[in-house]
Amino acid sequence: PEILILNGPNLNMLGTREPEVYGAETLDDIEAMCAEHAAALDLSVDFRQSNFEGEMVTIIQQARDNAAGIIINAGAYTHTSVAIHDALRVAELPVIEVHLSNIHRREEFRHHSYISAVAEGIIVGLGSQGYTLALDAMARLLDRN
Ligand code: DQA
Repeated sequence: PEILILNGPNLNMLGTREPEVYGAETLDDIEAMCAEHAAALDLSVDFRQSNFEGEMVTIIQQARDNAAGIIINAGAYTHTSVAIHDALRVAELPVIEVHLSNIHRREEFRHHSYISAVAEGIIVGLGSQGYTLALDAMARLLDRN
């Protein structure tokens, strides 16, 4: 089965973007890590990034036909986007929300997530490891179905 791993705005800047908050790894590093980890779980990965809210909605809509589950780090849209929330609802796929940083230890405006209400589970604050933990969790969720 294929898992969509969707990354939102500014995550293409990882490595140079506030490394003290988000770590030194680039998004390419995380993609490579995910591909390797997924293969060991007999999963494949469609790893995407977009800075555009509407494009993220379209990618999620397409996942409905192509993917078995969605792992999403929606970046700042986490805290603002009813459109991405609605798209995830329509997709009718298991969703796992990931954040590199612990959004609850940061500014108040990061404490609310529009993604959480449609997620099976949430992994925050563990850096890039969150993505591989999410793949482990997704493999188990899919086995259960
Ligand atoms: C983030 C947390 C968000 O608040 C922020 O806007 C990001 C990254 C994270 O992975 O920690 O872009 O989703």
